[in-house]
Amino acid sequence: MCGIVGYIGERDAVSVLIESLKKLEYRGYDSAGLALLDGKGKSCVFKTEGEISRLESILPELPARIGIGHTRWATHGKPNTINAHPHVSGSISVVHNGIIENYLELKESLESEGFVFVSDTDTEVLAHLINKYYLKNPGDLAIAIRSALGEVRGSYALSVLSEEHPHELIAARKDSPLILGLGEHENFIASDIPAILKYTNRVIYMENLEMVRVKRDSVQVFDLDGNPRFKEEHIIPWNLEAAEKAGYPHFMLKEIHEQTNSIHETLAGRLQELEGDVIFDELDLDKEQIQNIHRIEIIACGTSFNAGLLGKYLFEGLTGIHTDVDNGSEFRYSNPVLTPSTLVIAITQSGETADTLAAVREATSYGCTTLAITNVVGSTISREASNIIYTRAGPEIGVAATKSFISQLVVLYLLVIHFARARSMMDADRVGKLLSELRKIPGHVSRILEDKENIQKCASRFAESKDYFFIGRNINYPIALEGALKLKEISYIHAEGYAAGELKHGPLALISEDVPVVAIAPQGHTYDKILSNIKEVKSRDASVIAIADSDDGEIAKYVDVVLTVPKTDFILTPLLTTVVVQLLAYYTALERDCSIDKPRNLAKSVTVE
Ligand code: BG6
Repeated sequence: MCGIVGYIGERDAVSVLIESLKKLEYRGYDSAGLALLDGKGKSCVFKTEGEISRLESILPELPARIGIGHTRWATHGKPNTINAHPHVSGSISVVHNGIIENYLELKESLESEGFVFVSDTDTEVLAHLINKYYLKNPGDLAIAIRSALGEVRGSYALSVLSEEHPHELIAARKDSPLILGLGEHENFIASDIPAILKYTNRVIYMENLEMVRVKRDSVQVFDLDGNPRFKEEHIIPWNLEAAEKAGYPHFMLKEIHEQTNSIHETLAGRLQELEGDVIFDELDLDKEQIQNIHRIEIIACGTSFNAGLLGKYLFEGLTGIHTDVDNGSEFRYSNPVLTPSTLVIAITQSGETADTLAAVREATSYGCTTLAITNVVGSTISREASNIIYTRAGPEIGVAATKSFISQLVVLYLLVIHFARARSMMDADRVGKLLSELRKIPGHVSRILEDKENIQKCASRFAESKDYFFIGRNINYPIALEGALKLKEISYIHAEGYAAGELKHGPLALISEDVPVVAIAPQGHTYDKILSNIKEVKSRDASVIAIADSDDGEIAKYVDVVLTVPKTDFILTPLLTTVVVQLLAYYTALERDCSIDKPRNLAKSVTVE
């Protein structure tokens, strides 16, 4: 998730583009760049690592009236000046937000045609591909871009500047967001509304597979076959703060809604349904190495620990590899039993959590292969672990992790499937079915989000509770822990997550009519057991909230509230029940008027011990 901008008009393009990029820093802030045409129409490119202020500090006085800009959240190629956008080929400069899934094969064919690549990014392929077609048919930039996009698989919002065409910018969109800002003798291109709101509140929303020619006094939108498209103009009623949250009252609620996209992006380019397998560009473990793994040790903290616990169930259940999960803070001072055939997996959204980093260093000292699952390209852990897989949730602003958690779960599902295939523990047919079910998950999540009022009503009903229990079995036990953690983090209610079968061994003593119990109960091999646990707490007068399958006609008889999730393969239900417990926590905190994005005593990443 990066931010792109473009400007053509009478203002100083440098300050407009810098101002606009600053308003998109919540989309990415690890490197940035501009391409401009100076007073003589010469193309000038400036790029830096780090935040926009660093780019601003290197910019010369430059009389420019047209330009494009980018603020990056790296997915391919670590954050540095070379990988920063714009990427250039000949007279063409490109900024891009999205993922080019087939960039490796396109790169190979372009290199064989003599194009020289300088970066590790997928985006540079776009610049050379557009230039290839432009050189074939000089004079028509739009046709060159359409031809190039015809070869691309993946997602993009891109904008192109060319010295040969100093009176227009061209932009196009597929899956990544793109808007146009309309002004008097000026027009704007941006990934999102906050970028242009200082200058205009008149916008056009670009739809998928649309392209636009933006000139000082006109914008013309076409489909990718060149057919003109009529576009409606909209007036934005928001102030800037609301715009950064895309109209949501909190970043956390916005990020919960972004999960459909985070799952989509995290799956992008990694599924091989036909072959019944999964690929990770960035993973450096071959089949033999995977077959020689004797034990897996997962290390993580906070919400990432709960993801790791689900990983344990999946690795043991689907690959037969013995798996342990430890908190980083405990692991680093324990006397771990590690051997070179132990794979140590560290899960960390930020890639900077001190306890997790220390645990990875410890594991490395034992000669273990380490694999980090992180959301931040270029983070410390991405430099310390011997293998790395990125979740692609985009920057997460809310302190309570939501979209990063669900992206961690998606990576774990894919990794487990990949290992199970390499160890012949799952056949291609079963994998193919599971992957096609995984592809449906974003749609299922959308349906849960559409039904959020139901969850809000339930949250308000129990918002004054002093204690809350979450119970789950098997793969939904980690989600019970996550539900309790979310509620604790943002509503300050004392909440506990338990393996449902554990209640009778102690915690049942705490159950009374004042304690709501959330029972995570999708239909599967533990359904009857969780039903009996529900009866157990119900008989102690607890109010029970069941999270159940939408076609479960049975459970309502035994509980006070039923919150449903769409039907999917049982093994994937944690991806859906997670969204319900996140929303339950969010609406409870909202009802209690808590500081949801910045809860007391917590930080987004704890980089000290
Ligand atoms: C805490 C955050 O500081 O660190 C949690 O508030 C997070 O949301 C935990 O889960 C672990 O962070 P990370 O970045 O290592 O996943």
